[in-house]
Amino acid sequence: MHKFHIVVYGCQMNVHDSRRISDTMLEAGFVRTYEATAADILIFYTCNIREKAAHKVFSDIGLLKTKRTRIIAVGGCVAQAEQSGIFKNRDVNIVFGPHVYHKLPEYIKSIANGETDRILDVATEQSTKFNCLPVRKNVSCSEFVTIQEGCDNFCTYCVVPHTRGREFSRPALDVIREVKELVASGAKEITLVGQNVNSYHGEAPYITVGHPRGTWRLERLIMEIADLDGVRRLRYVTSHPRDFTRELMETHAKVPVLAPFVHIPVQSGNNRILKIMNRGHNVSEYLDKLKMFLDICPGVQFSSDFIVGFPTEMDSEFGDTLKLVDEVKYTTSYSFKYSRRRGTPADRMHGQVPEETKEVRLATLQQILLRDQIAHNNSLVGKINEVLFEKRGRYSNQYIGKNAYMQSVVVESQENLVGIFANVLIESASTNSVSGKIV
Ligand code: SAH
Ligand code: SF4
Ligand code: F3S
Repeated sequence: MHKFHIVVYGCQMNVHDSRRISDTMLEAGFVRTYEATAADILIFYTCNIREKAAHKVFSDIGLLKTKRTRIIAVGGCVAQAEQSGIFKNRDVNIVFGPHVYHKLPEYIKSIANGETDRILDVATEQSTKFNCLPVRKNVSCSEFVTIQEGCDNFCTYCVVPHTRGREFSRPALDVIREVKELVASGAKEITLVGQNVNSYHGEAPYITVGHPRGTWRLERLIMEIADLDGVRRLRYVTSHPRDFTRELMETHAKVPVLAPFVHIPVQSGNNRILKIMNRGHNVSEYLDKLKMFLDICPGVQFSSDFIVGFPTEMDSEFGDTLKLVDEVKYTTSYSFKYSRRRGTPADRMHGQVPEETKEVRLATLQQILLRDQIAHNNSLVGKINEVLFEKRGRYSNQYIGKNAYMQSVVVESQENLVGIFANVLIESASTNSVSGKIV
């Protein structure tokens, strides 16, 4: 009994966590398979952000379980939120929260040895796992590093502060060490990840030559990482508009490897809705920041998240979101229908918006977001983009990479381009990608 299969849902941090779970399992002697039918151990790493995502895991357990399955482990944000409630599904053996995944091999072994048939661990201490993880395996050219976890913002619709806990920043030199290891193993692009990444304030207790002790903010961490040999491109997600400082914008102007593309979710373009969402910023503060950013760093591009149909949102207030989108012209965006989450203040608000209204608003918003995305892609035609190639395409000789704006770029090449930075002349654009030739 040794083969495991991981199914992952949710945000980039979850995807990253699932890779770390895989590393931990491999280190403990288990073997990974990408086929549920070949696995003895099924690991579901879940997301609780919207109802649909949270429910999907339970239908998936039924779908993926086979005669071969011996152990089922459910981890991540739904596990943290539902805790022992997950055991209502009689097939589940292990429920583990996002802060204890380093212990999964140990838990699986004790179930396999018959020591117990159920294990629940939803401990909330955040720092431990980072010190218990093995050195990264299968490092690719583009890698994530968690620098911050949890959130103190308590937006009234959101479960993240309840599942990922309060804000925790990893010590700066731990992050630097991890980046060095990744670069030494071939990574060229590093994405710094956190639920509220620009509120990073990691302890820097050791003295590095020429630098004072104390706390490093994201700006400082970025500058230090950018100075490391081998870091060719640097990104960070996700930022909160309120924590976006002039210093961070200036860091973009100073640090050439920092991508000129930033995800700054606004959620709504209406002040009353932003207030009852508890976002901590209004529309003009948000727009002023983007303008300041463009002044300091011309050419920077933005993406955002939106929620439509927040409780009590009227048509005219939704119209304000459309106006804001028209003004900013985002490169890419994610938009969602408001989903009621148990335990959050917005779930208890009067004036829940009917599902049909949410659907109409979402379709309207997505249409104009798509229009802007296509316009951005078209604007790249005739330009030269630096692209990091990550994988082969569907056809032979086709390679797919990302430009600085996270757009997929497709080229044909006789030479294997995976893991290589190259300049590409963009020749055509479509909705979700652009294509061109190496120059
Ligand atoms: N920490 C990040 C990401 C949070 S979750 C941030 O603050 O931006 C990612 C996105 O999911 C959010 O930006 C929001 O747009 C959406 N989201 C969160 N809770 C939601 C809910 N209850 N219903 C619908 N969308 C939600
Ligand atoms: Fe959730 Fe708001 Fe925190 Fe983002 S900032 S994780 S939306 S509470
Ligand atoms: Fe989902 Fe948890 Fe990420 S709720 S969005 S997996 S932090």
